[in-house]
Amino acid sequence: MMKVWTRRDVAKVGLGGVAAVAMGLRVPQIAGAQAPPLEQKDTYVIGYPQTDENNPWRIAQTNSVRSEIEARGWTVEYRNAQESTQQQLADVASLIAARVDAIFLPPREETPLAQAVLQAYQAGIPVFCLDRDVDQNIVQAGEEYVCFIGSDFYQEGARAAEWLARTTGGNAQIIELFGTTGATAAIDRSRGFVDYLAGTYTPANPESATAATPAPPASAFTGMTIIASQTGNFIRDEGRQVFETLYQANPGATAVYAHNDEMALGAIAALEAQGKVPGQDVIVVSVDGSRDALQAIIDGKLGATVECSPFFGPVACDTLVAYAAGEPVPTQIINTDRFFDASNAAEFIDSAY
Ligand code: AHR
Repeated sequence: MMKVWTRRDVAKVGLGGVAAVAMGLRVPQIAGAQAPPLEQKDTYVIGYPQTDENNPWRIAQTNSVRSEIEARGWTVEYRNAQESTQQQLADVASLIAARVDAIFLPPREETPLAQAVLQAYQAGIPVFCLDRDVDQNIVQAGEEYVCFIGSDFYQEGARAAEWLARTTGGNAQIIELFGTTGATAAIDRSRGFVDYLAGTYTPANPESATAATPAPPASAFTGMTIIASQTGNFIRDEGRQVFETLYQANPGATAVYAHNDEMALGAIAALEAQGKVPGQDVIVVSVDGSRDALQAIIDGKLGATVECSPFFGPVACDTLVAYAAGEPVPTQIINTDRFFDASNAAEFIDSAY
């Protein structure tokens, strides 16, 4: 079985030791954790090991990254792990072997992919984590990798909870459709939602707070209960099937919190198949801001969606250029996201993906 390396292991045996054992390579000893430097060049080869292309959000993310890289005359080495963490690990290994200049990594799961970051670090290839992050007990931004660029998932969960509590008058029996187990997007969206309802939420990134950032609630919402929670893997049809089963077991459910729009749309389809009226019999709230979700809001089926922007191309490439130039790069670059509900979905649908 593959050993899972921790920061303590690295400190004990040195990075050369870790890599020699984990990768079967003989490598020079590196004295401390500092993200590998990047030479300033006119053109770069960027490794982009995508998690999957199964939903509009992922497709929009890939289009954004790919088109920005190509517009700059750089090259993208694209891989598609097709929802497999093992495949994404293999994809990162192949990009390391191909000696790409840098890797834009959307980690499917935070802990296994931290090992991939460690391997890239050992190979001297800078990694920029895009959209999801890796396990900070194993590797850290500014040390083994350059930075995390993405949304504040914890705040997304709190924003969904705040809307649901306000809309239901603080009374709801909630089914939660969880994202991919082990993904930071799912872990933190759940935590933010749960903490908000428990009255314990405080913004994790006050520096990126906007007028939309929910204030910590004055107290717990005792009438709001999560009655069932299960993963639908961020996939529409899996969300539909999982919701169908959970709703049969919990017919008293009055609300759905889905960790992304695709699973929310799956739940809406399941409700309609059972003769229920989504938006009336059961209130649905989710995260992303896709075109289908905005249309569902206009149709009155989806209550609201917290935006999670997939447009990473420009910010990722600008950050890489700044890093290569030796400019200070923040370890966390947090997107500022909007919120869509019945008041503005029609205004933004034409620009949605
Ligand atoms: O990590 C971001 C999430 O991943 C998006 O919300 C989801 O749609 C995607 O698969």
